[in-house]
Amino acid sequence: KRVAILISGSGSNMVRLIESMRGAHPARPVLVLSSDPEAKGLEKARALGVPTAVVDARACRGDRAAFEAELARLLDDARPDIICLAGFMRILSPKFVARYAGRMLNIHPSLLPKFRGLNTHARALAAGETEHGATVHEVTAELDEGPILGQARVPVKPGDTPETLAARVLRMEHRLYPAVLERFARGERTPIEMVAEADGNS
Ligand code: GRF
Repeated sequence: KRVAILISGSGSNMVRLIESMRGAHPARPVLVLSSDPEAKGLEKARALGVPTAVVDARACRGDRAAFEAELARLLDDARPDIICLAGFMRILSPKFVARYAGRMLNIHPSLLPKFRGLNTHARALAAGETEHGATVHEVTAELDEGPILGQARVPVKPGDTPETLAARVLRMEHRLYPAVLERFARGERTPIEMVAEADGNS
């Protein structure tokens, strides 16, 4: 299976996904595409030998149709079987999502359906949650809505800040996303659950 990964920033999830596809694996990375030309993930992808491309969302000056037309052109050139959104910070139109229905995944830093949207860690703390985590789901027209393919749970600890909680969640994202991608590439759809070690620092 050919995998394209869409990023906007540091690309730490993208790195783990690429590293997970080495060796005997049903998928291989064919493109890393960034919505930001400055994304730190671009140089990481190049260092890992994966072709990169950029569609500069700012240059499209809010013209989403132009942004998505270029995105689709570059994606289709790569002929991906699976598209992984990984720290991709643009909302895609229902029309665009429909084009890739059933083969587009996203990772969201909350236990969906809780805390759709942004600032999930601060919101979880404000809500007094005792546990939090990340979700990998199929992308559908509704934001952060699609069928859940995997979740990873972490404890909220006394004294947690959004930053300490985000770091704990991110460490689990790096385990969850590769596990879900491998199963998805094999055609498996039953959701998986991961729980951080209770006393570990994960
Ligand atoms: C992280 O907050 C992660 O939870 C979300 O996007 C952000 C950046 O991830 N998926 P990455 O380092 O660019 O993969």
